[in-house]
Amino acid sequence: MPIQTYALHPGFAAEASYRDLSERLDDTVIAAIGAALKTYPVLVFRDQHLTDAQLRDFALRFGPLEIGRPAARPGRRRLAIPQIGDVSNLDEDGKVRALTDKRRLDSLGNRLWHTDASYMPVPVVFGFLHAVTLPPPSPFGNGETEFADMRAAYDALPQATRDAIDPLVAEHDIFWSRAQIGFTDFEPGDREKYPPSPQRLVRRHPVTGRKNLYLSAHASHIVGWPVADGRLLLLDLTSHATQPGFVYSHDWRVGDLLIWDNRCTMHRGRPHDEMQPRDLRRATMLDTASTLDEAA
Ligand code: OGA
Ligand code: MN
Repeated sequence: MPIQTYALHPGFAAEASYRDLSERLDDTVIAAIGAALKTYPVLVFRDQHLTDAQLRDFALRFGPLEIGRPAARPGRRRLAIPQIGDVSNLDEDGKVRALTDKRRLDSLGNRLWHTDASYMPVPVVFGFLHAVTLPPPSPFGNGETEFADMRAAYDALPQATRDAIDPLVAEHDIFWSRAQIGFTDFEPGDREKYPPSPQRLVRRHPVTGRKNLYLSAHASHIVGWPVADGRLLLLDLTSHATQPGFVYSHDWRVGDLLIWDNRCTMHRGRPHDEMQPRDLRRATMLDTASTLDEAA
């Protein structure tokens, strides 16, 4: 194996070692990382130092990349490469955004448990998140990122519950996840550009064949159910799936590169000192079809 792993959380998160992911890697290395992600859908590489172009090129080895909502907006941007998501609290000029800055408020939706882009008709596969600048510790938190194992959460449900939820479809909506934190200040045209998308509530992982919950803060209700009932079910399942036993909390170091599988995990950012820069860069691999087209 060209990479070694050791578990940070049994069966779900691992540290992986490879000397330098900025090099042009052999196909066998990419295949080994893909294989490790089957067992450990959260993989941590330490001491990597990638430019945005190197991060993009590395992520591209796995598949085509998403251009996220912020990068798709017209106007000036801090980062040059549209496939690199700006996961920071910095404005176009690299200054820490004001507390009331609407881009900041929109991005605070990442503090809710979610899987990326589940509001898109075709959601995403791997997230590649690289730490460039980190804030010092604060009383509210250090900007950790937490991950939850949606396979273990599914397996832990009673059989009757699994049978009952297996055929359900949830509607995922970026407007709903933001409404939960009081953010409604979307751009004109965003509603039309990002309509809600239906997604299976239970997915079967196309590579491992294992079933898992597919939950997200974007999930607003269950299709065909009264909104209230669906929302309450989603709340119950989310509380179940994010119990401490299913969660790995990542303490960031500069140079970390995390890769996670959005199909079978949820994640959320934690608070930090908002006056200090926190700068991470993300590339995200697109999936090829709706979850509705996957095998049940
Ligand atoms: C993300 C995300 C959380 C964080 O990059 O997709 O949700 O801790 N990040 O920044
Ligand atoms: Mn995210």
